[in-house]
Amino acid sequence: MQRFEAYLKSHLLQVSSFHPCYESSLGEMLDAGGKRFRPQLLLDLVEAHEPLLYNSALSVALAIEAFHTYSLIHDDLPAMDNASLRRGKETLHIRYDEATAILVGDALNTEAFLLIARSPLRSDIRIELVEILASNGGASGMVLGQALDCYFENQTLLVEQVEFLHQNKTAKLIAASLKMGAVIVDLEQGEQDKLYTFGLDLGLLFQIQDDIIDVTQSDDEAGKTTSNDEAKNSFVTILGLEKSVNYANDLALKLEQNLNSFDVNTKQALQKSVAHYLWRHKQKSN
Ligand code: IPE
Ligand code: IPE
Ligand code: MG
Ligand code: MG
Ligand code: MG
Repeated sequence: MQRFEAYLKSHLLQVSSFHPCYESSLGEMLDAGGKRFRPQLLLDLVEAHEPLLYNSALSVALAIEAFHTYSLIHDDLPAMDNASLRRGKETLHIRYDEATAILVGDALNTEAFLLIARSPLRSDIRIELVEILASNGGASGMVLGQALDCYFENQTLLVEQVEFLHQNKTAKLIAASLKMGAVIVDLEQGEQDKLYTFGLDLGLLFQIQDDIIDVTQSDDEAGKTTSNDEAKNSFVTILGLEKSVNYANDLALKLEQNLNSFDVNTKQALQKSVAHYLWRHKQKSN
C-alpha cells in the first residue's frame, strides 16, 4: 500500500483562501492514517486482474478512503458518538470546532465523487462507480446504518436487527470497495455479485471485530476512543464478548471456505487483503 500512501499524500485537498486553518483541516484526518482496508480491497483486486490499471484505480481508491474518512469524522461528533480520539489524533471537533468537523466531512463526501468523475477511466465505468458508492454509502447504506445506530441508543434491538444495522453502516461500503474494483477490471456480472456478497459478510465480520475492540482495547491501543459502546446495539452489548467472538469465528470460517469459489486471481487478491481479519479471531478464541 506504499503507492497508495504516496498518492494520498500528494493528493490532499488544496484550497487557498484567507481562512487560517481550513485547508489543513481538510486533509488532516485522511493523512493521519488508519488501516486503509477499503482502498486495499479495491487495489489488490485490480492488481491481481489488470496490473496496468493500478495507477488509474488509485484515485478511486482515494475516493473510497475520503468517503470513509468523512463517515468517521461525522461519527465522532458530539451529536453521534462524541469521541475525542481518532487515528491516534484529536478528533476535528476537539482540535478545531464542530462546524469545522461537519464541514470537513461534507467536503470529503463530495470530494469522493469528484475524484471518481475525474479518474482516468472509461466514462461508463466512472458512472457505475459513482452509482455503487452513492447507493452503498448514502440513504440506503452507511447513512441508514448510522441513523439506526444513533436512534436506537439505549433500546435493545434483536440480533437480526443489529446485523441489519451493521450491514448498512459498515458492510455495504466494504462490499462496495470490492465491487468497484471488479467494475474497474471489467469482471463479469456474476463475479461482481459474488464479490459483493462476500464483502457483505466480510464487512459484518469487520464490524463485529470493531465492537470487540471497543471492549478489549484501550484508547492508545486502538488509536481511537474505546469503551464507548455501552449505550449502543453493538454485538458485544447484545450477545456478550464470548458469543461475539464465536460469531466472528463462524463468519471467518465461512469466508475462508467461500474464498475457494473464486478464480485464482481473485482468491489471491482476497487472501492478501483479508487474511489478517480471518485469522485474528481464531487466535483470540484459543
Ligand atoms: C472504523 O473503520 C469504523 C468502522 C466501520 C468499524 P476502520 O476500522 O476501517 O477505521 P480506520 O480507517 O482504520 O481508521
Ligand atoms: C462507525 O461505527 C461506522 C461508520 C459508518 C463510521 P463505530 O462508531 O463503531 O466506529 P468507531 O468504533 O467509532 O471507529
Ligand atoms: Mg458510531
Ligand atoms: Mg464511533
Ligand atoms: Mg466501534
